[in-house]
Amino acid sequence: MIDQLYRKAVLTVAERPQVEKLARDKMWPLAQRFVAGEDIQSAISAVQELQKDGIQGNLDLLGEFIDSPEQCNEFADNVLKLIDAAHAAGIKPYVSVKLSSVGQGKDDGGTDLGLKNARRIIGKAKEYGGFVCLDMEDHPRTDITLEQFRVLVGEFGAEHVGTVLQSYLYRSLKDRAGLDDLKPNIRMVKGAYLEPETVAYPDKADVDQNYRRLVYAHLKAGNSCNVATHDEKIIDDVKRFVLAHGISKDQFEFQMLYGIRRDLQKSLAAEGYRVRAYIPYGRDWYAYFSRRIAETPRNAMFVARGMLKG
Ligand code: FDA
Repeated sequence: MIDQLYRKAVLTVAERPQVEKLARDKMWPLAQRFVAGEDIQSAISAVQELQKDGIQGNLDLLGEFIDSPEQCNEFADNVLKLIDAAHAAGIKPYVSVKLSSVGQGKDDGGTDLGLKNARRIIGKAKEYGGFVCLDMEDHPRTDITLEQFRVLVGEFGAEHVGTVLQSYLYRSLKDRAGLDDLKPNIRMVKGAYLEPETVAYPDKADVDQNYRRLVYAHLKAGNSCNVATHDEKIIDDVKRFVLAHGISKDQFEFQMLYGIRRDLQKSLAAEGYRVRAYIPYGRDWYAYFSRRIAETPRNAMFVARGMLKG
């Protein structure tokens, strides 16, 4: 409950235009702890740097306020450029995409524009043996995202497209079971949006408990699972679970956000686990940065200290 209040307070303040203007001017040096840079080359360099420690990258072009169909198509074109650039740099493309940023929910000659653009993006990633994860957004988009995921797995195969389930949603266990026939590659997260109690657990303990249930059920069903959390207790429990159930280290990976718990990312990779960092980049870094601050007061302190230093 307190976590929800903290998150709400931070996001409400962060959304004020005056705060955003000030933040954009002053906070870029601090945001660079969580955002690789503003252009493709910075993102590629971040992957190469992490690879030295045995950590792989999951590239994410940041985009906010993408509204018109033209902007959605342009955004998708930029993701295609990213995939080409990763391949050219010798990196197997692994990208994340929010379907809203490529036109989900917009009709384009009888087909959803988001689906059309997702096809272009996944098709390109598949050409290079790569992978695209469809990020999960706020709850009004859950149904359509899962429906489109099902269509895309049918067209491209589960080894080239995955999606995300959020443990704060009451519905997620049922959603997970309903996808089993696809043998889907799923990233499990706790959930980053402000959601009402009608759809999401308000208490963190329930969110955490549901997180474990989702991961265990997904692994037991023999599917690929991306354990996307910085929660060390959960990570330790998952390690014990896979050991007890004879689950191979190839069936799952630990995923974390760029710049967060770098020590843990490195130590897991050194222990032989697959580890992947989610690497956001782009000019639209502000909302992403605000969500990271909203996740933990420790990050708010990091920013406050950085600003005081001038
Ligand atoms: P929790 O918030 O319980 O934190 C556990 C511990 O981790 C904390 O005590 C702290 O030590 C550390 N920690 C967590 N967040 C931190 C931060 N920002 N800075 C510093 N330390 C931190 N969400 C979503 O709704 N849709 C999505 O598609 C995705 N995608 C995604 C991909 C990947 C790779 C990750 C890691 C996360 C997401 N998320 C997401 C975000 C996710 O829902 C969640 O908000 C964050 O991961 C924070 O939750 P934790 O699981 O880390 O646990």
